[in-house]
Amino acid sequence: MGNIIDGKALSVTVKDEVREQVAELEARYGRKPCLCVIIVGENPASQVYVRNKVKAAAYTGMDSRLIELPADTSEEVLLAQIRDLNEDPAVDGVLVQLPLPKHVDEEKVIDAIAREKDVDGFHPGNVSGLWLGKDCIVPCTPAGVIRLIDSTGVSISGKTAVVVGRSNIVGKPVAKLLLDRNATVVIAHSRTADLGAVTRLADILVVAVGKAGLITGDMVKPGAVVIDVGMNRNAEGKLCGDVDFASCEPVASWITPVPGGVGPMTIAMLMKNTISCFLSRM
Ligand code: GUN
Repeated sequence: MGNIIDGKALSVTVKDEVREQVAELEARYGRKPCLCVIIVGENPASQVYVRNKVKAAAYTGMDSRLIELPADTSEEVLLAQIRDLNEDPAVDGVLVQLPLPKHVDEEKVIDAIAREKDVDGFHPGNVSGLWLGKDCIVPCTPAGVIRLIDSTGVSISGKTAVVVGRSNIVGKPVAKLLLDRNATVVIAHSRTADLGAVTRLADILVVAVGKAGLITGDMVKPGAVVIDVGMNRNAEGKLCGDVDFASCEPVASWITPVPGGVGPMTIAMLMKNTISCFLSRM
């Protein structure tokens, strides 16, 4: 029987650490860190995520701003908004919620955020920093995944880690973080032949594809640590992951639930990244 990794509880621990840091920073520097979140349009999932980010900032005591722009906002207007925030000394972190409407070039938007305010760790300067092993802002979800694995007490070093998914936001950075911790890393993806044969190699299995129920119990090595990054809606509209929890939980030693696993940790790590951006600017 797998132990359930309580991402919600761990996220509260992380946010409590941040809350203490915010109080210390305010006492030392005379101002609090400030996170600015921009949402363009009315994607319901994005609206929930953004609301939760602002709520988490309030919990930690840091300042936050929410900028809600209509779906037809031009790329030019959005870029001008980002430039204003880059130059605003009161703002430490700038996050533009993805995905953006189709008429906006996401890459241009990500590149426009000042590297030192890039709390997402998506800026090319932070991405290259991660891959070159330099000090940089690490993307929130991958950082949260590592913290979740560490919370089990299972050592990553020397283990075989399989990452399913190769996105810039999760798959690629989490693979690099696992490599940095001396795992032997395999990246599987939609063209992987015999996915089950690959996932069964994993002592640590991280799944970030966006396909409900992709991983079933027969694809999991007995005793593996299973981290489910998926956030899908099933036919009944219920939130579910990429991992079929019912069949995988009895096989795994540790497993994250959806909801209550990776999601809350992503937001907690965003709070930590905002502190890092604040400190890099002082
Ligand atoms: N959309 C889904 N995940 C993320 C994330 O981590 N950051 C941003 N900015 N948008 C997202």
